[in-house]
Amino acid sequence: MQAENRFRLTGVDCVRFAVEDIEAACRFAADWGLVPAISKDPALKVFTATDGSEVQVVKAAAGQPRCTPIGAPSGLAELTWGVADAAALQAIADELRKDRAAEFDAEGVLHSHDDLGIGLAFRVTRRRAVIYPVTRYNAPGQPGRLNARAPRYEAVRPHEISHIAIGVDDAGEAVKFYIERLDFIVSDRYANRGIFMRCAPVGNHHHVFFMNAKQPGTRFNHLAFKVRDIHEVIGGGQHLDALGWKTFAGPGRHLISSACFWYFVSPFGGSWEYAADEDMVGEDWETQDFDAVSHIFSEWTFGLEKSDGTLRGPISASKEQAL
Ligand SMILES: [Fe+2]
Repeated sequence: MQAENRFRLTGVDCVRFAVEDIEAACRFAADWGLVPAISKDPALKVFTATDGSEVQVVKAAAGQPRCTPIGAPSGLAELTWGVADAAALQAIADELRKDRAAEFDAEGVLHSHDDLGIGLAFRVTRRRAVIYPVTRYNAPGQPGRLNARAPRYEAVRPHEISHIAIGVDDAGEAVKFYIERLDFIVSDRYANRGIFMRCAPVGNHHHVFFMNAKQPGTRFNHLAFKVRDIHEVIGGGQHLDALGWKTFAGPGRHLISSACFWYFVSPFGGSWEYAADEDMVGEDWETQDFDAVSHIFSEWTFGLEKSDGTLRGPISASKEQAL
């Protein structure tokens, strides 16, 4: 395996959502901890995470390709992948143009689509490394944080977009374009149910997860943001909960990717996920095929209801009981 993707892909640079309720979507993004950015177009709302990962929000409008969510009234309109440099961008254009349109816009962003019709874009990454004090832990007999209190977070500040999950009819078919044309790598699989892929040999466990959906069709499932540690996952989740947003699942810890998570139902047609301490992988990572059994979703999740398939967090649930 080569050390770098042929196209020097760096990860998800931007996710563009088209939504029915743009006011609610923007409120959710701000409550989530993203920072509003300046947009030249008043109809385009832009939010950024610490490293420059970007979310764009537009009002859903049928007939306008970049304002049309795929498969649902609100959802994913375009997924932008970052690349290292302009030469890589041109190499992707040359590859895609073998069998489909791929056009540069005035800002040098390349627009195309995958085999399912998901709008794809590629740009020289606008994400940048941001250095911050990494949380240290005291383990028995091995104190890593001497004479210092543990971090507390008054406000959540997502560091970066980690990955996106997309529901499809056939995950095995959906991934072919990415593997065969863009050299994505399978990191892990749920047998016959979902495939975790990364866009570079070294880095995130997954940047995209294609999962067989309960409903037919292709649609946005969730978007994950990395936060600094589990304390920020919990703090962020409590903050969202206090503002009235509903838990989809969590807090909990995934078995696959090891991330501590908390998902919230969002106005974007799916959920958003805070995630901390996800597996980072390299060329020696061994791909596993996991049984698609119900408990594979997590090692543990507070409030997880397994009997009827609904997932509820304990804090939202207790608040409803109190009313
Ligand atoms: Fe996720």
